[in-house]
Amino acid sequence: ADSGLIDGLGRKIDYIRLSVTDRCDFRCVYCMAEDVQFLPRARILSLEELETLARSFVEMGVRRIRLTGGEPLMRRGIVDLVARLASLPGLDEVVMTTNGSQLYRLARPLKEAGLKRLNISLDSLKPERFAAMTRRSKLCQVLAGIDAAVAAGFERIKLNSVIMQGHNDDEIHPLLAFAQSRGIDISYIEEMPLGRVYSHDRRQAYCSSDDVKREIETRYQLMPCTDRTGGPSRYYRIAGLPGRVGFISPHSHNFCDSCNRLRVTAEGRLLLCLGQEHSVDLRDILRRYPGEKNRIEKRVREAIRHKPSGHSFADRDAPQVLRFMNMTGG
Ligand code: GTP
Ligand code: 5AD
Ligand code: SF4
Repeated sequence: ADSGLIDGLGRKIDYIRLSVTDRCDFRCVYCMAEDVQFLPRARILSLEELETLARSFVEMGVRRIRLTGGEPLMRRGIVDLVARLASLPGLDEVVMTTNGSQLYRLARPLKEAGLKRLNISLDSLKPERFAAMTRRSKLCQVLAGIDAAVAAGFERIKLNSVIMQGHNDDEIHPLLAFAQSRGIDISYIEEMPLGRVYSHDRRQAYCSSDDVKREIETRYQLMPCTDRTGGPSRYYRIAGLPGRVGFISPHSHNFCDSCNRLRVTAEGRLLLCLGQEHSVDLRDILRRYPGEKNRIEKRVREAIRHKPSGHSFADRDAPQVLRFMNMTGG
């Protein structure tokens, strides 16, 4: 009976993404508003609460935990949290998605704490454009961080590039060349409409993965490869080159049927789907009934029966997701 988490549509949930903070030192145009207000400390989960939750999820059959933000490396004590999670029996891997700005100093400690893989955002290699897209001038720091991560010897590193027409769609090849020069993977991502942004029109900036793929294929032959990471990226290889090329295509190649994940927001809400608002509060149980794991388990099991079948980004009549990406870390 209580073997693993299966949602109402029969999808097996064995992966959770924990947002450890809503804060970030960047203000990426597709992710946040410039004048974002961050949450007061008391509203976000403590490191102990995060560990307790992680432990419960692992007991319910979760095998992978991805730490996200905001920017997870803005959270004090994050390396210690990684070490605690990495030692949980039954967990296959603890991984992280980061903007890379703190890796120049934290890559090695994270690796030593037991972090397996790193996904690092990189949308441009041009300093002015990087500054325009992230609203911060830290390209050099991020590049140094990527090199520190490569040197630290992670099992796998992936760059994440959100490709936007008229913004960075002329950097598909340079970003690929950069990834290949470091022997790491790259995923090209279609922008998702989370939160209302005023810096650009998302429809106009839309760039389909099929277009990105066609552009790459003007120079390289892409060979599909089957080794997936349990995530939405569809990977390809290029003969003779080390890194994989992936596409995350929520619009053009919907992957909700194979969804295997849940998220916990920085405030401790269990979010059932990235592209919907359905959520239930876990923080209140953690705080009112400390130590009562069965209450957490009960709420989670009840909630996943109602996990939405998928996002409705294409449906003009569907309510807009108002939550910004920094609440869930993607
Ligand atoms: P792994 O598969 O674990 O390597 O990671 P990932 O690629 O799923 O995670 P990452 O944090 O690097 O996210 C890359 C992009 O995929 C971001 O834009 C995420 O928002 C998006 N993404 C991750 N999971 C989902 C999902 O369940 N649904 C949707 N629509 N997008 C997702
Ligand atoms: N659409 C698609 N990807 C996004 N990310 C942040 N906001 C969006 C969005 N609106 C990406 C970041 C990061 C990952 C966590 O999610 O680039 O790599
Ligand atoms: Fe899963 Fe929702 Fe993402 Fe679809 S949009 S893959 S259902 S989290």
